[in-house]
Amino acid sequence: MKDKLLEVKNLSTYFYTTEGVVYALDDVSFSLNKGETLGIVGESGSGKSVTALSIMRLVQSPPGKIVSGEIILDNESILNKSKEEMQNIRGDKVAMIFQEPMTALNPVLTIGYQIMESLRIHQKLNKKEAREKAIDMLRKVGIANPEKRIDDYPHQLSGGMRQRAMIAIALCCNPSLLICDEPTTALDVTIQAQILELINKLKKDLNTSVIMITHDLGVVAQVSDNVMVMYAGKEMEYSSAKDLFMKPLHPYTQALLESIPTVNKNEERLTVIEGMVPSLSNRPEGCLFHPRCHKCMDICKIKRPELVKTKEGREVRCFLYSNEGREEENNGK
Ligand SMILES: Nc1ncnc2c1ncn2[C@@H]1O[C@H](COP(=O)(O)OP(=O)(O)OP(=O)(O)O)[C@@H](O)[C@H]1O
Ligand SMILES: [Mg+2]
Repeated sequence: MKDKLLEVKNLSTYFYTTEGVVYALDDVSFSLNKGETLGIVGESGSGKSVTALSIMRLVQSPPGKIVSGEIILDNESILNKSKEEMQNIRGDKVAMIFQEPMTALNPVLTIGYQIMESLRIHQKLNKKEAREKAIDMLRKVGIANPEKRIDDYPHQLSGGMRQRAMIAIALCCNPSLLICDEPTTALDVTIQAQILELINKLKKDLNTSVIMITHDLGVVAQVSDNVMVMYAGKEMEYSSAKDLFMKPLHPYTQALLESIPTVNKNEERLTVIEGMVPSLSNRPEGCLFHPRCHKCMDICKIKRPELVKTKEGREVRCFLYSNEGREEENNGK
């Protein structure tokens, strides 16, 4: 048995807005082993960032609220921790690389100060030790001339360097869990590859577990052991990355994979998933994906599918794989 680091059970996070309740995360469960990477994929608005923010306990409240569920990190439930306790856990045990580096970095403080602050709080290093370690971290994340760069402000760095600086801040206290929310979306492809390689290397060197959030399936294929596919705040499929790419089960996953551009495809146009992610405050009846699904059956329009566990240990939320759904299909024939 591998060691579990994180267990999320039946987590629901809602936003109470003037337009109604936004069901951003609805009954999501997954787990992550030590030293492994979980990829979370799904279209924009599917609840990926809210999943990350819920684990960090950084959901903006109000209007957001974690309404139910459990988050267990290293055998400890973190949902009822106080603000102070959470501050210690963040940085020390869990660190996050945010979708937009400029919002996460403080523009009026040098990069070095921001890394050293974390080291001094969490690892109780003195000023000199913290500076040395900060330079070392910057070197580790591939920033050239770190002795000089450490005194730069965020705006003096390029986008790729800022992203590296954020990784340095996130990793300086050796967290057991690193959450990366679209860490490479804003970067060009070569820098993206370098950053992913860097995260992979650090993960191996430090046995860090990683949650890699992205809508780029190419990124997921490169780094993940397991993958969770999300749609409209729900987990649609969970399986090993290998199985997912070899044989996607959910029609949504299949559609996502078909929409990846490849050089060899002869088609003139890319396959697109028609329609849009539904409004999460006004969700359709039945399966949330049914209005866009090519394999939609009658039952899908009226009933929400449960997660089905397959013989191979995969999970899929789709009537095509449940007895109930199969009966429906046979009756219809
Ligand atoms: N502060 C908020 N107030 C109201 N609704 C919110 C808030 N934050 C997130 N949401 C809603 O929660 C849902 C999930 O958002 P989330 O940011 O997790 O999507 P995402 O999968 O990360 O998308 P993207 O790929 O665009 O980053 C969306 O419908 C979003 O509108
Ligand atoms: Mg997001």
